[in-house]
Amino acid sequence: MTSQPWLSVILAAGLGTRMKSAMPKVLHPIAGRPMLAYSAAAAIEAGAAQLGVVVGPDMEAARGPLAALAPRAQFFLQNERLGTAHAALAARALLAECGDDVLILYGDTPLLRPETLLRLRRLLTDGASVAVLGFEAADPSGYGRLLLGEEGRLEAIREEKDASDAERALTLCNSGVMAFRAGLLLPLLERIGNDNAKGEYYLTDAVGLASSDGLSVGVVICDEEEVAGVNDRVQLARTEALMQTRLREAAMRSGTTMIAPETVTMSYDTRLGRDVVIEPNVFFGPDVTVEDNAEIKANCYMEQAHIGRGAIVGPFARLRPGARIGPGAKIGNFVEVKNATVEAGAKVNHLAYVGDARVGAGANIGAGTIICNYDGFAKHFTDIGEKAFVGSNSALVAPVKIGDGAYIATGSVITDDVESDALAFGRVRQVVKPGRAAQKRAAMQKK
Ligand code: UD1
Ligand code: MG
Repeated sequence: MTSQPWLSVILAAGLGTRMKSAMPKVLHPIAGRPMLAYSAAAAIEAGAAQLGVVVGPDMEAARGPLAALAPRAQFFLQNERLGTAHAALAARALLAECGDDVLILYGDTPLLRPETLLRLRRLLTDGASVAVLGFEAADPSGYGRLLLGEEGRLEAIREEKDASDAERALTLCNSGVMAFRAGLLLPLLERIGNDNAKGEYYLTDAVGLASSDGLSVGVVICDEEEVAGVNDRVQLARTEALMQTRLREAAMRSGTTMIAPETVTMSYDTRLGRDVVIEPNVFFGPDVTVEDNAEIKANCYMEQAHIGRGAIVGPFARLRPGARIGPGAKIGNFVEVKNATVEAGAKVNHLAYVGDARVGAGANIGAGTIICNYDGFAKHFTDIGEKAFVGSNSALVAPVKIGDGAYIATGSVITDDVESDALAFGRVRQVVKPGRAAQKRAAMQKK
């Protein structure tokens, strides 16, 4: 979907005070992914070849996680928060060296779509020098207003605090997203002063300057929802809800059935195949793939898991990182699987823990089976062969290997390997004493 490459600068030095958090605002996740990563991904998807991120001094500690989110980005420090133009200038080195058009984004608007950025892009291609993303605000208070001149040309952006009553009555607002033709932004930024109500260097002044220079400034309009910024945790939850709706609708449109979609929580990277059925109250943590025709029954929790074609998971199952459920396999109620492969057609239907293991194709793991993978010091592996049968309430003490077709008697504690097709008992032999119950009763009644 890309055209020419451009440079994107993401402004993210804001304090985020209203989040009341020890963590920088842009690291708070939406659908399992930090907000900043959405801005970076949208920019890259819309063709940004270079990325600059402007951060504040108190974000120094979060440099590692920030860098991991946008590995291609260069980070710039804005030591004092003197306004959006001042923030953009923090990336001066990048702006000076790069000869591409420039896209300015914020780090706290995760719902922004790459398609919308490409519309800005097109405006530049069609001859505009500056393009601003605007929206009709239900409640415009707090936003900069777009002042349109003749023929709908944008003449200036007026910040709320500097606006006249008439300007305040306008509802067409600035989203903050702007695009500049190559070479234009830096000289404009250098001309911006701070003689305004807030005493800040406003990036929005670049629009007035460009317009009075006779350059053409265009506007692209998007839905308010797309540019809604996150400032506190109420807005975080609202944005999460909007993102969830978006993710679920995309999944349903690509062939997944959801019986009660509003009860399903997805991650930004959840991959659901065709004719997958998701029952109510299912949670997808990051990195879950569900292949075609699989069924996730009600009340399951999954993260970093792969569910094969036609497998059935749940109700009430938990798949932890590294769970790989093979095609047609069954994971039933109150079963936990961690770092384990359950191969094709195998069944773990009730009340079991399968950790650090392989369950071979067609094997059957009885109710209450526990794989004892941890000895208090290290994790060990359990290998269960194809078509093996593990009787109910068995404990398999790792490391241990159960051969193909082996049979473990119910209630066994298995500490040694069991060869293929063997029958293993690991329990106390049953003792029956005929008549002893009646004798005991009679003795008690005499007392
Ligand atoms: C800004 C716009 C306003 C627009 C609104 C949309 C200006 C002057 N005003 O106002 O027209 O309607 O966004 O939400 O641009 N930032 C820094 N360093 C700073 C200041 C801000 O990095 O010194 C970053 C923030 O982290 C944030 C973005 O820039 O990502 C916007 O800053 P914010 O303070 O929220 O600007 P607004 O006053 O909301
Ligand atoms: Mg703001």
